[in-house]
Amino acid sequence: MADPPSPGRARPPILVTGASSGLGRHFARMLAAAGHPILAAARRAPELATLAAEIAAAGGRAATFALDVTDAAAVDATVAAAAASFGPLGGLVNNAGINESAPLLDQDIAAWDRVLATNLRGAFLVARAVAKGMARAGGGAIVNIASILGLRQAGGVGAYATAKAGLIQLTREMALEWARHGIRVNALAPGYIETPLNRAFFASPEGQAMIRRIPARRLGRPEDLDAALRLLLSPEAGYITGAVLAVDGGHLVSGL
Ligand code: NAI
Repeated sequence: MADPPSPGRARPPILVTGASSGLGRHFARMLAAAGHPILAAARRAPELATLAAEIAAAGGRAATFALDVTDAAAVDATVAAAAASFGPLGGLVNNAGINESAPLLDQDIAAWDRVLATNLRGAFLVARAVAKGMARAGGGAIVNIASILGLRQAGGVGAYATAKAGLIQLTREMALEWARHGIRVNALAPGYIETPLNRAFFASPEGQAMIRRIPARRLGRPEDLDAALRLLLSPEAGYITGAVLAVDGGHLVSGL
């Protein structure tokens, strides 16, 4: 899919959820620049329209869909409409996610439900809807955007970390069940990546202390994830499925 350009070979369309900001927006632009038609889905339509205009101005192709991934009926309808735009989906970047931090003793249950509904249930709904089409078309590649918090612990993010751990196990279950349909399912587990939303925190003394605990001694940048994402979407990774690839400057292997 995201393999190097080869004349005459069309890149398959890729659906990116949560494409209105942050990493999803970055992934959509990066994959469009690599020649993939992009189906960009998120809740905020104006931001998506801006993204589509930027992709078009750069010579790419994009269609946009206002979508709440927690709405099962809307997910099915959007995936059907996306597949009708540029032909069968070859890839999915399952990126939509939220965090609402709270200590577990004070955890608000509605917030717990929102975090699990978006990061885990929503990711499942989108992946399943996309996989049904991929199975009919002969296969595809799904990349679930997890987190190193699905593999390690940090205080105050119990709901989020639990959802991401669930997403990692769901990745393995989907990989097992869908390999027979030619569908590969892998998880990309970013470490702490600087985006507009967390920039102020990482500039604070607490944030700076966190950066010092990363072996690479710096935050990730969105583009640090590009090679891993392109690999997992690429036919060159045709025998890689059920894997969890951390891109974290060594954060998971930090010393005790
Ligand atoms: P962000 O808040 O900038 O982007 C999240 C995107 O998901 C937004 O476009 C938002 O509209 C969309 N979204 C949220 N709920 C949705 C819903 N119900 N339906 C449809 N779209 C919805 O955050 P960021 O940092 O770009 O995160 C993207 C993904 O990367 C998330 O899954 C996050 O957990 C993951 N991640 C981010 C890290 C970071 O350091 N920024 C580290 C590890 C993982």
